[in-house]
Amino acid sequence: MRFETLAVHAGHDVDPSTGAVTPAIHPSTTFERDEDGSYTRGYVYARVGNPNRRALEECLVSLEGGASCAVFASGSAATMAVFQSLSPGDHVVAPKDVYHGTAQILTNILAHWGLETTFVDMTDLTQVEQAIRLNTRLIWIETPSNPLLKITDIETVADIAHRSGAACVCDNTWATPALQRPLELGADMVVHATTKYLGGHSDVTSGAVVAKNDDNLFQRIRLIQVTAGAIPSAFDCWLVLRGIRTLPYRMRAHSENATAVAAFLNRDPASVEAVYYPGLRGHPGHAIAARQMSLFGGMVSVQIYGGRDAAMKVAAKVRLFTRATSLGGTDSLIEHRASVENYGVEPGQETGTPENLLRLSIGLEHPDDLIQDLVQALE
Ligand SMILES: Cc1ncc(COP(=O)(O)O)c(C=O)c1O
Repeated sequence: MRFETLAVHAGHDVDPSTGAVTPAIHPSTTFERDEDGSYTRGYVYARVGNPNRRALEECLVSLEGGASCAVFASGSAATMAVFQSLSPGDHVVAPKDVYHGTAQILTNILAHWGLETTFVDMTDLTQVEQAIRLNTRLIWIETPSNPLLKITDIETVADIAHRSGAACVCDNTWATPALQRPLELGADMVVHATTKYLGGHSDVTSGAVVAKNDDNLFQRIRLIQVTAGAIPSAFDCWLVLRGIRTLPYRMRAHSENATAVAAFLNRDPASVEAVYYPGLRGHPGHAIAARQMSLFGGMVSVQIYGGRDAAMKVAAKVRLFTRATSLGGTDSLIEHRASVENYGVEPGQETGTPENLLRLSIGLEHPDDLIQDLVQALE
């Protein structure tokens, strides 16, 4: 079946007992045992599994082309479970321009627990090769990256990982399986903040790990999910599954709108210092993105001449965009990324995101209205 059909049908059937087309929500925390003590209906206790969670996991397995999936209470909980499946003393290679929360997990939480990380510019394959050590167990990819939209060559980096006996995990949050399928390009696992495009309406926090093989590494992630219990509620799973039904169409519209906005910003040399969008021909990752993505996604970053104050002024003047963090919903958002990333961070641990950078999550409004809003904000 084609992707659009899977998005509508994977993980849900008409309810045989009621005929309901839309799945019911199962808040029950516990499930009845059979007279002989078995659980033939497949559920025991909600932390271990419930029908809404199973439906979402089945759907994500189909969309990413994997073998197994474990969903979590946030994208960060999913990320954490992947790293916790490693052992103290293991080494990870991760991109310098990784989502700042992922960098925090590695440096401020798991480094204390004995996990070692080398951050590299993942667009430079020599740096990736040189970072590999005997104890390297995992290469983490995030493409397009947050917030600089750097593009990593998934196929090549997965190959480097496998040649050194490491696993390759790709955070596919920004592209989604509608635009990019890392498991088909050689990655072993995909991670999602389903909070973003998969949920699609800025109303649910959740995450997922999808594995190509139900191997030992994935079994450890499953153990962390059901035992440590950072799970999404039944309603959260229902919301994400509902969002996924329209994912292919939303991603096309996000990409089309972002292409128009990026092209507009690129034509404004008076106020715009740089535009980051992989769909622009001048973007250094354009050729790789064109090969491994079907469209270029809904995220655009822009650097404004005049430093932090000028960028803050643009963010202050928008009327249609909302000043807020996050991404992937119907409403366009604008944020001064450095101040969000460095909020409450110890001096010296700032992320290095340029102070004049604004990150735009391009929503589903008409692109001309978005451009008009930016015209008046940039004046
Ligand atoms: C690429 C990426 N990965 C992971 C996350 C973390 O997701 P969550 O906020 O659901 O923990 C985010 C959040 O913005 C993200 O952009």
